[in-house]
Amino acid sequence: MSMNKKILTAALLLIGLGSAQADDGKELTQLLQASGCMSCHSVSEKIVGPAFKDIAIKNAGDGDAVATLSQSIKNGSRGKWGRTPMPPHSSLTNENIAKLAAWVLNQKP
Ligand code: HEC
Repeated sequence: MSMNKKILTAALLLIGLGSAQADDGKELTQLLQASGCMSCHSVSEKIVGPAFKDIAIKNAGDGDAVATLSQSIKNGSRGKWGRTPMPPHSSLTNENIAKLAAWVLNQKP
């Protein structure tokens, strides 16, 4: 393969990866909005609930964190972050809950 072709291939690969991530991001943003998460949370500031980045930091390196956070989202959570409880989100599918939990864990600064 010529040098130019290699560079072109690398560039196309990067564009492809970039747009795949952008799609995931868009789907996740819609899921967060539609599920009402953003009325209590933001990525970087505490609102009613803790900042998603602080949740990611607290759980970094915990291999069970997707499962733990999924439980909290589904059944609600109290006492882990303060006195305000999070209500349950029992109408969300387990698949979407796991996606949200995994996304939250990725919000490290
Ligand atoms: C009515 C406000 C409210 C809504 C809506 C809400 N949260 Fe929360 N969330 C909280 C509060 C308050 C806490 C802290 C609970 C505690 O101290 O245990 C929390 C905690 C969390 C945690 C950390 C749980 C843990 O085990 O440490 C995650 C993850 C989370 N929320 C994600 C979400 C997602 C995803 C959504 C949308 C499906 C959502 N939250 C919707 C208020 C809310």
